[in-house]
Amino acid sequence: MSTSTKSDPTIFIIFGGTGDLTSRKIAPALYNLFLDGWLPNQFSIIGTGRTQLSDEQFRENLFKDISQFSRSGKVAKEKWDVFSKSIFYQVSDIKDFETYKEFGKRVEKHNTEWKTKANVIYYLAVSPNFFPIIASNISKAKLADDPKKVRIVIEKPFGHDLETAKELNKLLSSIFDECQIYRIDHYLGKETVQNIMAFRFANSIMEPLWNRNYIEHVQISVTEQLGVEERGDYYDGAGAMRDMIQNHLLQLLCHVAMEPPVSFSADEVRDRKVDVLKAMRKFGPEDVRLSAVRGQYGSGWMKGKEVPGYRDEPKVDPDSNTETFAAIKFFIDNWRWQGVPFYLRTGKRMHQSSSVITIQFKDVPHLIFPTEASESWQQNRLIISIQPEMSIRLQVQAKRPGLDMVLNAVDMVFDYKGTYASQAPEAYETLILDTMLGDQTLFMRGDQVEAAWELVMPILSTWQNKKSLNFPNYSADSWGPESAEALIARDGFNWFTLPVQGNKK
Ligand code: BG6
Repeated sequence: MSTSTKSDPTIFIIFGGTGDLTSRKIAPALYNLFLDGWLPNQFSIIGTGRTQLSDEQFRENLFKDISQFSRSGKVAKEKWDVFSKSIFYQVSDIKDFETYKEFGKRVEKHNTEWKTKANVIYYLAVSPNFFPIIASNISKAKLADDPKKVRIVIEKPFGHDLETAKELNKLLSSIFDECQIYRIDHYLGKETVQNIMAFRFANSIMEPLWNRNYIEHVQISVTEQLGVEERGDYYDGAGAMRDMIQNHLLQLLCHVAMEPPVSFSADEVRDRKVDVLKAMRKFGPEDVRLSAVRGQYGSGWMKGKEVPGYRDEPKVDPDSNTETFAAIKFFIDNWRWQGVPFYLRTGKRMHQSSSVITIQFKDVPHLIFPTEASESWQQNRLIISIQPEMSIRLQVQAKRPGLDMVLNAVDMVFDYKGTYASQAPEAYETLILDTMLGDQTLFMRGDQVEAAWELVMPILSTWQNKKSLNFPNYSADSWGPESAEALIARDGFNWFTLPVQGNKK
């Protein structure tokens, strides 16, 4: 979301410096920002963790990680020689106050060397149990005193439920100003997600159609082929609602449903998103039964390989009641969206990995063509494909060439690949750069997180209190439980899937 300015001198301190997130996302993102010329000349990365490492060993580890995970491929030696000079490591015990005094000294050292007061970013890439102790120690060591210079980045999950999210917000705001807190939802950094706002608010032809008068229903589907992998200990306490719906999918919904902001300022945009969450209809127990479906995957075959069911995954309770799939029908009670259902669906071990928003428009009021002309009739749809395909398609009816009048649906397509030669940055590049520049537009504000928790709590509590008797209820490599098909079929619709690239529907 940045314009083309570089940030001020910056010290980037990563808690969880030897963790998976640093290896896969944060380090490659920092390196690509460096390659693309976004990092200031005075820049330093300090990784910290319990593992005993020298600066040199830490650099070697990051070299391997970046070569493996960066979108720019294997690291070039001459670039690395420059970049790695800014990388340091500090062994730490995050519960120990001495650690923080050490950070203070390092910050002072850089400030003296650089003859300036650098921005300091504390990036908490650690388990959420450690957020409170780190934040409190930063405060105790007086490392957060300058709101203009110090920022803290908090990874998800932000809280386990409404109560814990409120507690964490309370603690953070007793130490930091809201303008210092960067709550990450990495979906907001995705190029295609940012483009939803551009598409809606930079084109005058969309707004007249973008409401209950023309839109029949909206689908937001984020499916993954991956299972729970090595994250069983975290995931079994979370499930699809906490892991995906409370944050990523509701944020996508906000982008589709928000009112036009007056300006592109962070608070204005976030205010409009909070408005959506507040207008969403709350669930009672009966609504959960009618409008929410949960699922858990069983074993099956994926890409020719046998995969275990969820309950047989490492670090998962063999009797687990945790959902790996959720489909929910929401309504937004405001003038724009009254009566328009928003169907959200997400799941692991599904047939396809794809994140797609489908906006289905109402049918024509009167059909003038004979039935045989319109056998493959399809109402207009706008399909925003977030990943893996990055595209926006408008499905319209057209006459098939020939002497007879036969209609079929065709796509008008804006495809990133065909339109732009340059590679899109990774979400983490965008979000890290925005943190350095102090732009919070793509970050979750405290009230936004709480409003999202408030919405999902009745569903979570109902599910928690009532064990599902039919788990596992979908097999790996399927489209989820049958009840999810029924949820949308009852209203006369079906889940839309974008054919894998290269295949025709
Ligand atoms: C994370 C979830 O936030 O998002 C994971 O914790 C999920 O369970 C991931 O796999 C999906 O992100 P992406 O960018 O791969 O769609």
